[in-house]
Amino acid sequence: MKLINSAFLLSLIPLALALENGLMRTPPMGWLSWERFRCNTDCKSDPHNCISEKLFMDMADRLAMDGWRELGYVYVNIDDCWTAKERSATGQLIPDPERFPSGIKALADYVHGRGLKLGIYGDIGTFTCGGYPGTTLDRIEQDALTFAQWGVDMLKFDGCYSSSDVQAQGYPKMSKALNATGRPIAYSCSWPAYRGGLPPQVNYTLLANICNLWRNYDDIQDSWDSVLSIVDWFFTNQDVLQPVAGPGHWNDPDMLIIGNFGLSYEQARSQMALWTIMAAPLFMSTDLRTISESAKEILQNKLMIKINQDPLGIQGRRILQEKSHIEVFLRPLSHSANALVFFSRRTDMPYRYTTSLVHLNFTQDVVYEAQDVYTGQIISGLKAADNFTVVVNPSGVVMWYLYPTMYLDQPFSFVQQHPEARKARPFTL
Ligand SMILES: *[C@@H]1O[C@H](CO)[C@@H](O)[C@H](O)[C@H]1NC(C)=O
Ligand SMILES: *[C@@H]1O[C@H](CO)[C@@H](O)[C@H](O)[C@H]1NC(C)=O
Ligand SMILES: *[C@@H]1O[C@H](CO)[C@@H](O)[C@H](O)[C@H]1NC(C)=O
Ligand SMILES: *[C@@H]1O[C@H](CO)[C@@H](O)[C@H](O)[C@H]1NC(C)=O
Repeated sequence: MKLINSAFLLSLIPLALALENGLMRTPPMGWLSWERFRCNTDCKSDPHNCISEKLFMDMADRLAMDGWRELGYVYVNIDDCWTAKERSATGQLIPDPERFPSGIKALADYVHGRGLKLGIYGDIGTFTCGGYPGTTLDRIEQDALTFAQWGVDMLKFDGCYSSSDVQAQGYPKMSKALNATGRPIAYSCSWPAYRGGLPPQVNYTLLANICNLWRNYDDIQDSWDSVLSIVDWFFTNQDVLQPVAGPGHWNDPDMLIIGNFGLSYEQARSQMALWTIMAAPLFMSTDLRTISESAKEILQNKLMIKINQDPLGIQGRRILQEKSHIEVFLRPLSHSANALVFFSRRTDMPYRYTTSLVHLNFTQDVVYEAQDVYTGQIISGLKAADNFTVVVNPSGVVMWYLYPTMYLDQPFSFVQQHPEARKARPFTL
């Protein structure tokens, strides 16, 4: 396969009828409480970090004021443990009155007032994973209506305490119920995460019809081991997972833990690069009030975000696993561009990896230019047969934005023949 055309070829793979709510044509971006703040409900001893309206208002302030919103990080998402332990007398879900004294409608107004969107959490089972009231098949319409009336923009629907039967009925039923409210509410389904196995025991065609994104695998934890286990699972199963992603329907390898405690600087850069290759949703779960400049720089990398948000929405693949423990990943992008990631699983020292674009199956008769996504450095005049060397740090990446500049035998004609390719030219960082 000629790689400069691969985006075109991949886009011809017949796609399932996608969910028609018009939302999330590119992977969603924002903030989600779970990985960093969990089910901390102890507002007496830990008022700053407990699951309360204050936490979500703080994060909304940071997203709006620290440059995140303009880059696309617009969702402020509540995870588990926001409700009271019991429903109201009329069976409505109600927020914990001490931790959310103003109510969810007021929180939604606050978030919307800052140009952001509010996400909420529910569970198809009898209880949420944290032991709060679940929705069950009986209360799907009622809960969907409640969320819509509050002005919620997204629902993460978990699957604890539910049988496979209830999941099979409940996930499609909630999709219909959300649609019936008339309010566009993006829908994140945890269904496949409860139907694991290798290969995955899920009908992804159906999922793409009813959900905007879905959690396929285990919850991420604050460790490199956890990131690696997710990377391994997603790329081992890429033949199943890669074709089902696209505009409006995404695989979700779970939150970004960049800015927390478990990743080194190199590992944080690797998570960001590999999630971008996967066309993954970018939900940060970190404390935006105290995040370091270096973590912020990784998360706010404009070229990275441009690649993640590429309008074709093609999920990338691992194309090579070298004996040297260097792995190469590729994601086709619009305007004949590609993203390439060179990832090192080594634990010794920076590795000088030498390869050529021909070795990576790029078209021979084209001259390319590459822009290093992290350093901004530009490598021009790269012929497909030229050997080049990238220096990849242990558990780190080198990431390239790569685009053709001309045909070898017809100098300067590439952009004449592909006028749209001009738009991919070096990105101003
Ligand atoms: C409901 O679904 C229909 C098509 O199935 C779509 O046209 C409409 O925009 C959806 N409405 C909402 C609010 O999601
Ligand atoms: C998967 O779901 C689709 C869409 O609902 C359906 O057409 C197809 O038959 C299902 N495939 C299997 C193997 O059940
Ligand atoms: C290049 O193409 C060959 C032949 O189709 C294939 O066996 C090989 O795996 C490909 N290599 C890469 C890096 O895509
Ligand atoms: C690139 O490296 C390969 C393997 O070391 C070698 O066979 C080839 O001749 C080199 N190509 C060029 C253009 O230097």
